[in-house]
Amino acid sequence: MGRLEGKVAIITGGARGQGAAEAEMFHSEGAQVVITDVLEDDGGQLAASLGVDFLVHDVASAESWEVVVNDVISRHGRIDVLINNAGILRGARLVNTSDEIWDQTIAINQTGVFYGMRSVAPQMIKQESGSIVNISSVAGLEATFASMAYGASKWAVRGMSKIAALELGRHNVRVNSIHPGLINTDMTSEFDKDRMLRAVPLGREAEPSEVAAVALFLASDDSSYCSGQEFTVDGGMHR
Ligand SMILES: NC(=O)c1ccc[n+]([C@@H]2O[C@H](COP(=O)([O-])OP(=O)(O)OC[C@H]3O[C@@H](n4cnc5c(N)ncnc54)[C@H](O)[C@@H]3O)[C@@H](O)[C@H]2O)c1
Repeated sequence: MGRLEGKVAIITGGARGQGAAEAEMFHSEGAQVVITDVLEDDGGQLAASLGVDFLVHDVASAESWEVVVNDVISRHGRIDVLINNAGILRGARLVNTSDEIWDQTIAINQTGVFYGMRSVAPQMIKQESGSIVNISSVAGLEATFASMAYGASKWAVRGMSKIAALELGRHNVRVNSIHPGLINTDMTSEFDKDRMLRAVPLGREAEPSEVAAVALFLASDDSSYCSGQEFTVDGGMHR
């Protein structure tokens, strides 16, 4: 039996990268997966290849969240897992961070996670069970260069996860954050990785499946007594 047998899991930003790896792994572990993303073609193709649902979804829109959550509840009757994975990275130092970079980064990376937790919490409270996994970053644990907006959003995700864990725990709803380091996805394709890898004790970047494995642990009942915690997946970079 799969580790997510019978569970309904929403994965935002699941069209590619880490979200896609989570969709594949969760599906293979028996979950009924709902992939959401703004990338309609990529998301639709992946969902079709797995035989799972895909919904067009902008996480920065409260209305879009309402449509997604209502759709999932009407199709599947419950929501057991939410992976708040969708995110963008627009690197800029403090003095170069425009209002536009700031607003878009906060809207997607921070407000999107807030909307997501607020949208699924009533259903999870009703069920008296659920697991929310918010994807932050090492940039939400320590200062990193050229990340004023991105870092602010990821530090916020870390804090919001703990606040939600505190409030929802009595309803058997767990909330944790994952803090990836350097992961091999489209987001990091332009990075100077040789320079960055000098700070990684394991000396390599991770494949998306290595983050998905931790998300699987947190989504499943294997982590039934873990809540309000941060799980770093960074090859030992943050220490
Ligand atoms: N790649 C890394 O090294 C790394 C490190 C730390 C944290 N992260 C975080 O991991 C998460 C996944 O990133 P990834 O590495 O897979 O990158 P990625 O760019 O491949 O995937 C991000 C996904 O989010 C989707 N997305 C963007 N804006 C959206 C919106 N408004 N609504 C819905 N979907 C939206 C994108 O379309 C894309 O499919 C992000 O939150 C990112 O910040 C990544």
